[in-house]
Amino acid sequence: MANRTPSRGTRLARKGPAAAAAGQPAVARAPAATQSRGPIREPLGRLAQGLPGHWYHDADHHRREVDRIWFGSWIAVARADELAAPGDYRVVDLAGQSLLLVRDDAGTVRAYHNTCRHRGSILCTEASGRLRGGRITCPYHAWSYRLDGRLQSTPRRMPTPDFDADRLGLLAVRADLWGGFVFVNLGTGTVAPLRESLGWMPERLAGYGLEGLVVGHRLEVEVAADWKLVCENFCECFHCPPVHPELCRLVPAYREGGAWGLRRGRDAAPRIEPTPQFRPGTETLTPDGRSRVPPFRGLGEAERRLPYQPALLPPNLFLNLHPDYVNAHLVFPVGPGRVRIVYDWLFEPEAVSRPGFDLEHYLSVWRVTNAQDARNCEWQQRGVTARGFSHGVYVPQEFDCHRFAQWVRAKLRRPSTRQRPL
Ligand code: FES
Ligand SMILES: [Fe+2]
Repeated sequence: MANRTPSRGTRLARKGPAAAAAGQPAVARAPAATQSRGPIREPLGRLAQGLPGHWYHDADHHRREVDRIWFGSWIAVARADELAAPGDYRVVDLAGQSLLLVRDDAGTVRAYHNTCRHRGSILCTEASGRLRGGRITCPYHAWSYRLDGRLQSTPRRMPTPDFDADRLGLLAVRADLWGGFVFVNLGTGTVAPLRESLGWMPERLAGYGLEGLVVGHRLEVEVAADWKLVCENFCECFHCPPVHPELCRLVPAYREGGAWGLRRGRDAAPRIEPTPQFRPGTETLTPDGRSRVPPFRGLGEAERRLPYQPALLPPNLFLNLHPDYVNAHLVFPVGPGRVRIVYDWLFEPEAVSRPGFDLEHYLSVWRVTNAQDARNCEWQQRGVTARGFSHGVYVPQEFDCHRFAQWVRAKLRRPSTRQRPL
């Protein structure tokens, strides 16, 4: 992300827990106890120009973004435990590219283009399953591949002197894991390691034990809105009062101008607000603010007392983190002005297997909030297609939208621009 310092500030503004209101804020903040001072949050000093209106719906521009941003970044595409055993596979679509994720015999998760090297048929036709005999077999002429990608057999092929199986292995895709998510990167040439792109996330979010969490509930939806609108929506809670009345009851801070921690004292210095204001007694984001399972065992005391913090790794991984559950969004572009979003509710395995575990208690806040966000993004999508809508504007509290927009601009100019969490 472009390290754009908000106009008045000398340090990069970090959005904290609250900002994320309805899953809005984009930046996760360190728990108060781990910071030497309160969160540094700097509103914009003046209006900032939004992205060009046609970037949200123009097909030619969308192809440019797919090439430079989506095929040039680490993208979270699945949970690793969807590939529990050797031979388990999943097929995922990333902006029209069919990718095959498999766990090989050594337990490593690998990614390939789901494409046969003979004459290009897709290999796996189902969304997921287990490969029989540890082989990936093409449904067309039955060429088969090992889980490590090597071509294994080519039945009935008449021999020729120029056949070289070593040159006809599966087309590999870079893959790596973090936090229990499988990431892929379709970039060509030199690609920054996933760890580098994740920036502060692994260290700051370590206590949540993301890699050990399991999916308690999954919801997939298609939303008629451009991926950038969805990201921008996650970057601000300026919209929370009109859009998320239920959430605002839990987090009164969101009613205050759609942001917290931006007020200044008489000396113009930021006032220290280590966390947003939550309704008294709030332990986590559930309808009554109460937890019904223990907090994640790796959390420190400060994190246990922090009902909510958000994190965003653009362009597609959104995390809403609470002391006892995580609501994760994986966003995938399916065309100009359209995305597919996979919402996962993640828990410790012991939580979901507890007798009487009340899943519904944990679903409702984000189910309602995510649906409200999707609806508003769709309304916005319809509006930005207006002839004459050259661009929107970001107000001071939308400083993270501005940072996101600057990253998009930079990435389009220079695809080598670093990927960073917001
Ligand atoms: S296209 Fe796969 S075996 Fe022919
Ligand atoms: Fe929202």
